[in-house]
Amino acid sequence: MNKLSILALASALALITGPSYAGDAAAGKTKAEAACVDCHGDDGKGDDENSAIAGMSVADFTKAITEYQNGTRTKDAKMAKAAKKLTPADVADLAAYYAKLPK
Ligand code: HEC
Repeated sequence: MNKLSILALASALALITGPSYAGDAAAGKTKAEAACVDCHGDDGKGDDENSAIAGMSVADFTKAITEYQNGTRTKDAKMAKAAKKLTPADVADLAAYYAKLPK
């Protein structure tokens, strides 16, 4: 195999293995300020009613949002509504941002 076909194979694999968009924490901060801080607080630490989401891993965060979006999590209608407005890129950006906030 020459170098070119190795490169072609690597990029094909990258496509197959799916979303390579890593999420932009700075963009996530802007989105959080617009849509999340009213309930979860500027620091993401929440309060008695709203969960603390600062410092969640990208995987846990993404799983939670996906569950609100697909209706698996139905405990809070307002949170579900907020999640349903998010695109996959929004979720990636927000996940990157909240993962960096201290718990
Ligand atoms: C109207 C208030 C409200 C808004 C706006 C809101 N949330 Fe929530 N969120 C909640 C509540 C209440 C819960 C806990 C609900 C539950 O137990 O299922 C929650 C739970 C979560 C969880 C799950 C936490 C866990 O421990 O599993 C995540 C992640 C989350 N919110 C992220 C966000 C993001 C990101 C935004 C902005 C796009 C947002 N929320 C906007 C009220 C809100």
